[in-house]
Amino acid sequence: MKNIVVLVSGGGTNLQALIDAEKAGNILGGKITCVISSNSSAYALERAKNNDISTRVIPRKDYSDSKSYSMAILNALDEEQADLVVLAGFMTILDECVTSKYAYKIINVHPALIPSFCGEGYYGLKVHEAALSYGVKVSGATIHFVNEEADAGAIILQGVVNVEKDDTPEVLQKRIMENVEWKLLPKAVSLFCQDKIEIVDGRAYVKE
Ligand code: GAR
Repeated sequence: MKNIVVLVSGGGTNLQALIDAEKAGNILGGKITCVISSNSSAYALERAKNNDISTRVIPRKDYSDSKSYSMAILNALDEEQADLVVLAGFMTILDECVTSKYAYKIINVHPALIPSFCGEGYYGLKVHEAALSYGVKVSGATIHFVNEEADAGAIILQGVVNVEKDDTPEVLQKRIMENVEWKLLPKAVSLFCQDKIEIVDGRAYVKE
């Protein structure tokens, strides 16, 4: 059984999707063993507590730079004996000290079709604002491995929704969460825990 450690910063609806999938028996070979938040007031912490999952708070504001913050996260992941790390609305970019030690063991959900609307500065509603202002007709979400470059690791799964004429960032965000993120994130986690994702030349493929 793989230990899944989930990193969060906010509301935690993707964490909830993972908890619900685990409860429904849809995360094969893995168990959420700890939730780590970068923010002590994240509602995601309540979701973890309501489901008897242990929590840690490592506030980003307590660290002067990304390197020292990432070292603290790295220590926690090692202590938790994480086999898989899931960034579920985690709003801090992790330094290379974490991404190299946990190479191909960190999965992120990004609310756009990478390589569009991604990289530093593209997070949360900002992503949907950018997609709407560009005028794209489809958007979606991407589940990918995390490497040393923001939103640039191997893509595992992507899903698409239509963009409607009167969409606001909030409406588009909700459509993408409901139709893509909350479905594909648990699916990718389950595939990982069953060793069903292979890496060939830096690209990820789901094994048949
Ligand atoms: C989600 O839409 C997630 O894809 C996005 O933030 C939201 C978190 O919601 N993540 C990023 O933008 C990371 N770059 P949640 O806390 O309810 O899961």
